[in-house]
Amino acid sequence: MLETQNKKTVSNYKSGLDFALEQDQKDELASYRNQFHFPKDKNGRDCIYMTGNSLGLQPKSTKDYVNAVMEDWANLAVEGHFNGKNPWLSYQEGLAESMAKIVGAKPIEVVVMNTLTANLHFLMASFYKPTKTRFKILIEADAFPSDKYAVESQLRHHGFDDKEGLVLWKAPKNKDLVNYSDLETILETQGHEIALILIGAVNYYTGQFYDLKRITELGHKHGCIVGFDCAHGAGNVALNLHDSGADFASWCTYKYLNSGPGSIAACFVHERHAYNKNLNRFTGWWGHNKETRFRMRDDFDQLPGAAGWQLSNPPVLSLAAIKASLEIFNEVGMEKLIKKSKNLTGYLEFLLKQLGEDTIKIITPNNPQERGCQLSIFIKNADKTLHDKFTEAGVISDWREPNVIRCAPAPLYNSYQDVYYLVERLKAILNE
Ligand SMILES: Cc1ncc(COP(=O)(O)O)c(C=O)c1O
Repeated sequence: MLETQNKKTVSNYKSGLDFALEQDQKDELASYRNQFHFPKDKNGRDCIYMTGNSLGLQPKSTKDYVNAVMEDWANLAVEGHFNGKNPWLSYQEGLAESMAKIVGAKPIEVVVMNTLTANLHFLMASFYKPTKTRFKILIEADAFPSDKYAVESQLRHHGFDDKEGLVLWKAPKNKDLVNYSDLETILETQGHEIALILIGAVNYYTGQFYDLKRITELGHKHGCIVGFDCAHGAGNVALNLHDSGADFASWCTYKYLNSGPGSIAACFVHERHAYNKNLNRFTGWWGHNKETRFRMRDDFDQLPGAAGWQLSNPPVLSLAAIKASLEIFNEVGMEKLIKKSKNLTGYLEFLLKQLGEDTIKIITPNNPQERGCQLSIFIKNADKTLHDKFTEAGVISDWREPNVIRCAPAPLYNSYQDVYYLVERLKAILNE
């Protein structure tokens, strides 16, 4: 197998199709590709699907998991809560355990609930505790818009000016990626005014995977609470959320976690907050002690850990899709996935670089430790017609204005041949 070092992928990649065929043959995860449905191109062939960073493919097993809930609902109706194949009352709890393995957390630190932006708000209700002198929120300058809107609205909700209250961690002029010395400078000068740091673990645009532990330690040193949006990290990189020391995190399940469009999200709350009853929160009956929940008349008695942030009984049809996907993840394990991911993305990088610096620039860090599987490719002198031609040629990638294509070879279902043909088709379009 190709090996990775700390800095760069060892470049023993080769450019011909033979190399891709050989790597696919050696790939111990190759058979997992058959467990997914691929959209078809106009010739009826599997598309080259490179948008797991946006919406992951459907596992073939998902239908059975969802159907099992449908059948229980049809046959048992309300009794499905207690007597279903997987009783609905405890369905979420099993998922929290599997999900915890994927993000490097303890089961008590994870809950599957709500959707991502909603979770960020609920978590900020607990962890963003502004005072007159410490009320600012630090985010990346090119954070995902929903995160920016969310923190701006939190500032306004607490009576602060959203321009004054927002501190942006920017990439240096003419650079694409942020660096830690700038973050240190911001914290040294303004840290005493910053109440919360909220960063995307993997930046959605550049694909830069941040050092969560380093950011958390820096933030904590300056008295800030630190949270992460792990939408582009969960199922993609080793997040090690517990060891990072982060206070909270949330992520969706429809990207690398292949759980279907709009499927519900998950949250992490660090164990050190698990039994803290003084943390203010918005509450609902599902966060109440499950032993006494149905007595209905008791005062709120919060469940320990992340589960105590639940409000409502969860949508079990969505949980079923998540369960189908997590079972595949747990069977493979993040370690093997990440190993293949580094090799596959390194291969994509190798082939793209052969197109020449006059044609493309890869924005994503070239250090495999600072990225997941996504590469963001700046195509010089291109516009969206290039992306349209790419789609016409059966390659599904995604386009970000002004001229960036994001390609994410997902190690669970993408092959070395996918990567090879993707670059061949890009080359053909660029040569037109
Ligand atoms: C980094 C990031 N944050 C937040 C969101 C918003 O997610 P949701 O619509 O599930 O709240 C997305 C959606 O793609 C995202 O990529």
